[in-house]
Amino acid sequence: MAHVTRNSALQDLLDLFPAPAYLEVGVNRGMTFHALAATTKVAVDPKFDFSERPEPAPGCTVAYHEVTSDAYFGTIATAADRFDVIYLDGLHTFEQTLRDLINAVDFLAPDGVIVIDDVRPNSYPASLPVPAEVRATRAMLKMEKDTSWMGDVYKLVFFVETFFQQFSYATIANNHGQLVMWRQRRAKVVPRAIDIFARLQFFHCATERPVFRIMPFEDILALVKAARAGEDSAQDTI
Ligand SMILES: C[S@@+](CC[C@H](N)C(=O)[O-])C[C@H]1O[C@@H](n2cnc3c(N)ncnc32)[C@H](O)[C@@H]1O
Repeated sequence: MAHVTRNSALQDLLDLFPAPAYLEVGVNRGMTFHALAATTKVAVDPKFDFSERPEPAPGCTVAYHEVTSDAYFGTIATAADRFDVIYLDGLHTFEQTLRDLINAVDFLAPDGVIVIDDVRPNSYPASLPVPAEVRATRAMLKMEKDTSWMGDVYKLVFFVETFFQQFSYATIANNHGQLVMWRQRRAKVVPRAIDIFARLQFFHCATERPVFRIMPFEDILALVKAARAGEDSAQDTI
């Protein structure tokens, strides 16, 4: 299975739309944002880690909002804004990403796609939501060389499975672990009590692996295309 970069996955999704509108929450150095081609691009981050803002391609617009996602969705996004692809890669905690997701749905085009980064933590320390606890646990385990931090965003996948019934979803197998969600209702949901989400832990990523619906990106793209063509979801049989 060939590796897909986050850029190529996002660009393939953007290319499904004739004049794509793209929103990225959490932009950092712009490694992804600057590389992507879209008619409209909106960047949101409380602190951009770049000073040069490349000129948009002819006929395209780019907007930069140096604010938190809460401020963007609460004060800047307008009722008319609709995005075809929304990439959520901001603060990597379950609570913040859940709020970003709920807000994103309101600004998603009818056949739009949401991509959520880092839903598959690569170690126990990387799965912790509090940076100081990540550092202390890494130090104790002598894992200081691995600086990756996915936080507890993995809990969102369980939440989506239970509470976002109007969306189908899958996790990209051939990259670091991005969740792709598209509007296609699922006949069945897995009921969960609300307090379970606070108790989910890293090991549940292993013991409840099927929840993630991990599959090659090309299969996910085919499912998204089928949904856009109005075909029924095969999700309930995965
Ligand atoms: C992993 S980096 C983003 C990487 C970027 N998407 C890329 O592909 O290169 C996470 C970013 O989220 C930003 N961030 C942290 N808290 C945020 C918030 N509340 N709202 C939006 N962005 C936030 C950080 O400033 C950081 O730049």
